[in-house]
Amino acid sequence: MTHPVLTALGLTDRESGTYLGSGEWSTTSDAGVLEPTSPTDGSVLAEVKASSKADYERIVERAQAAFKVWRKTPAPRRGEAVRICAEALRQNKDALGSLVALEMGKSKPEGDGEVQEMIDIGEFAVGLSRQLYGLTMHSERPGHRMYEQWHPIGLVGIISAFNFPVAVWAWNAFVAAVCGNICIWKPSPKTPLSAIASIKICNAALKKAGFPDLFFLFNDAGTDLAQDFVDDRRIALVSFTGSTKVGRQVGERVAKRMGRSLLELGGNNAMIVDKTADLKLAIPAIVFGAVGTAGQRCTSTRRAFIHEDIYDDVLAKLVAAYKQVEGKIGDPTDPANLMGPLNSADAVQGYLEAVEKAKAAGGTVATGGKALDDRKGHFVLPTIITGLSNDADVVQTETFAPILYVMKYSKLDDAIAMQNDVPQGLSSAIFTTDLRASEAFLAAWGSDCGIANVNIGTSGAEIGGAFGGEKETGGGRESGSDAWKAYMRRQTNTINYSDALPLAQGIKFDL
Ligand code: UN1
Repeated sequence: MTHPVLTALGLTDRESGTYLGSGEWSTTSDAGVLEPTSPTDGSVLAEVKASSKADYERIVERAQAAFKVWRKTPAPRRGEAVRICAEALRQNKDALGSLVALEMGKSKPEGDGEVQEMIDIGEFAVGLSRQLYGLTMHSERPGHRMYEQWHPIGLVGIISAFNFPVAVWAWNAFVAAVCGNICIWKPSPKTPLSAIASIKICNAALKKAGFPDLFFLFNDAGTDLAQDFVDDRRIALVSFTGSTKVGRQVGERVAKRMGRSLLELGGNNAMIVDKTADLKLAIPAIVFGAVGTAGQRCTSTRRAFIHEDIYDDVLAKLVAAYKQVEGKIGDPTDPANLMGPLNSADAVQGYLEAVEKAKAAGGTVATGGKALDDRKGHFVLPTIITGLSNDADVVQTETFAPILYVMKYSKLDDAIAMQNDVPQGLSSAIFTTDLRASEAFLAAWGSDCGIANVNIGTSGAEIGGAFGGEKETGGGRESGSDAWKAYMRRQTNTINYSDALPLAQGIKFDL
């Protein structure tokens, strides 16, 4: 029987994973199937037919044809198309949020929150469609005008991860669309239904309003098509969200063909709590950051550095808060629960291995450390580990699970140095009421991350800022601020309106 959450979105338990444009979904049936399962009880939610090489070729051809039209469409009109998509998502927020919760395993409020991020970035992109500004410069030559303009880049490939199965697509797709590009999406094989639903919602709205196809979709049963996609010269920009391991391969392959990539990879985010911190804020921020989405955000809090004077007190409060969460682990679609399952059996394995490694390295499990194998699904206990040093291998590694390493410090400089001393550089935070401490944390010699917060946790960034990080996080920026520039090509233009031909740098070349 089709799950009611699918029915609410007009989906069945047999879906095509390939949107070919012109309202057409591929009927390919020999390219394998994806079987997204509920992380809560392991049940198969639907059968999704994967895409063939021929499907992919058709998509690229149609996307190229669509680009020729779309790049001539005025940017504010392109904004109108995105406005319509955001409106359609608003109408479907409850149903799509439930599907995200069901398929990914995050809580219902987090599923809804993710759809809200899609709506928010849509509205942001609408405003942006009238603000794709270039600079004007003063030419050194008389009678000359110099300026820069931003043109669409072409086809934008989006490869998204299971943990934010819809929002990250929208960050890329809506901004790319107002910039005049056509997007091709390959979602995570674990969450194809959320992708299919998003594409159906947006494309139905676009069609009704007379807009062309802007958003194409394919699903890969293995990795061959995804590799072709990454190597494909016709894809001007590949935006990849996922692990550092795969992201490194994507970055290298795209660089080899001189394409452009935008990488959003792993984080190893830390929170510093100094002795002046307001613990009413710090404790819930750490708990939400480490336990929210069962520790499966790239911005999840993985390390906490606590000043030695308050260490025992903070640890006791954290353990007490974790015990409360333990009573609210369960079906993520039930709003009473605070923590859902991990997404897969592999993720549970990764969690258990990390706990073992931590113990072997001399760490102590202060709370948690176990999988809940008395029930169906991929549930684990949220875990705090103490007694490890920042340079322990397991602390240096991003484990996509609710494990928090709590460490002690005495000098702020040391805490900042430890927080920076990991391969990743995504998100960071300090809790303090001391102006000097917060400014030191934000200074050029402070946090080296793409995101640095004061009295706010590491996760839950707003869409208005540029999102991304340094070092092995990949260096890309998505979402707000001027992240749109990644989706456009810059052109510098110099126009001579004089009747002479002066050369730059005063060079003389008299014929
Ligand atoms: C991610 O984890 O891949 O800041 C993205 C946050 C969300 C986005 C996270 N707004 O946690």
